Amino acid sequence: MEIKAIRGFNDILPDEIGKWQFVEDTAREVFEGFGFSEIRIPIIERTELFSRGIGEVTDIVEKEMYTFTDKSGNSLTLRPEATASIARAYIEHQLYTFDPVAKLYCIGPMFRYEKPQKGRYRQFYQIDAEVFGVENPMVDAEIILMLIHFLKKVGLEKLELQINSLGCRACRPRYREELKNFLTKRSFQLCEDCQRRLHTNPLRIFDCKVETCQEAIADAPRVVDYICDECHKHFNKVKEYLGMAGLTFILNPRMVRGLDYYTRTAFEVVSYQLGAQNAVTGGGRYDNLFQEIGGLDVPGIGFAIGMERLISLLPKEKEFFRYPHLFVAALSEEAYREAYQLVNQLHLQGIRTELDYEGKSLKSQMRRANKLKARYVLILGEEELKRGRAALRNMEDKSQEEIPISDILNVIKGKVKGV
Ligand code: HAM
Repeated sequence: MEIKAIRGFNDILPDEIGKWQFVEDTAREVFEGFGFSEIRIPIIERTELFSRGIGEVTDIVEKEMYTFTDKSGNSLTLRPEATASIARAYIEHQLYTFDPVAKLYCIGPMFRYEKPQKGRYRQFYQIDAEVFGVENPMVDAEIILMLIHFLKKVGLEKLELQINSLGCRACRPRYREELKNFLTKRSFQLCEDCQRRLHTNPLRIFDCKVETCQEAIADAPRVVDYICDECHKHFNKVKEYLGMAGLTFILNPRMVRGLDYYTRTAFEVVSYQLGAQNAVTGGGRYDNLFQEIGGLDVPGIGFAIGMERLISLLPKEKEFFRYPHLFVAALSEEAYREAYQLVNQLHLQGIRTELDYEGKSLKSQMRRANKLKARYVLILGEEELKRGRAALRNMEDKSQEEIPISDILNVIKGKVKGV
């Protein structure tokens, strides 16, 4: 029986990879320009990092983690997100001793046992950026500016930045009580899970997709109306700095994000092109995460971009596939020897060159060059070789010229420059 990939786990094939590389290269360029450095963290961590970091009563921890016991009896989990791991690495390697401010980014796969559908997979990729050690709202606006700049640079349009403030440890409990009181009166409308959440973590009822729960919560009190003076001031500053950076946003008082670590600023960038799974990216401030996982008092803010969702929005007309610069068609034993030497030299110079290895006819080699969309074809024929020459064909305008073999490397290099 043929073995297939697991549901929700995708192959990214060569004809798609150009888009992925373009997005990753642009992220690196933009983020490094904003002073961020890359960090690579393990794919597997101790389960408690996520249960404590993200919160026990969240969909991710309750239902979506790939958790298993290893041969030594440790409970381990495939990372469902990167923030908790990056924070763990900052604590574990005492990055704060070098500089308390750390600006870090990470690109890689995450794993969540969700119901696979368009835009929602069990293995998906995130581009994640975090700033640790700054409470100043200036950095909230700065990281959002970086995100929007990146999204525009890869070609996304018609995006909407939504923001909210989720309050802090001081003011959240009062809001939680209000919400609980409000929903207790409507508890008959809540699904079984939300009946339980009502007592354990009522904010998570906002994440529930069940229609009656959505109805029950529609007129619920808004968290922004309950935040304390300090949080208010912080949020106003964030808005002011966003304005100064030339960014427009809308206030979404219903956005509470699905992870428990958030405090104060929360944001999402949505695209209405995407249908149901319309969040391309989400993030926010988390001033208590470090205490949960390592007993340190370090503020943090960050975001993660879903790469599959982002890639599905890239402009259709943009060409991402990297075609060969040159196809070498050799037509005799001697020509193959010449071709072999030449192709090796071109490869060593980074010129994408293809060769037919099978001694096929010129017609069939030209057909393959056409199919591969090679920009130029170099024809090494027996007659031409005797005269020390070869024919170079431009596949775009179909023009052909003869060039001395000794000049080939320079001529090709000149032609493919910037292609
Ligand atoms: P999140 O909202 O859970 O946040 O995920 C961020 C993005 O990952 C989403 O907006 C979406 O584009 C993508 N995503 C999430 N789940 C899936 C899935 N099953 N399939 C495809 N794409 C998905 C976080 O993960 C936080 N760690 C973000 C953050 C960083 N907050 C602060 N720093």
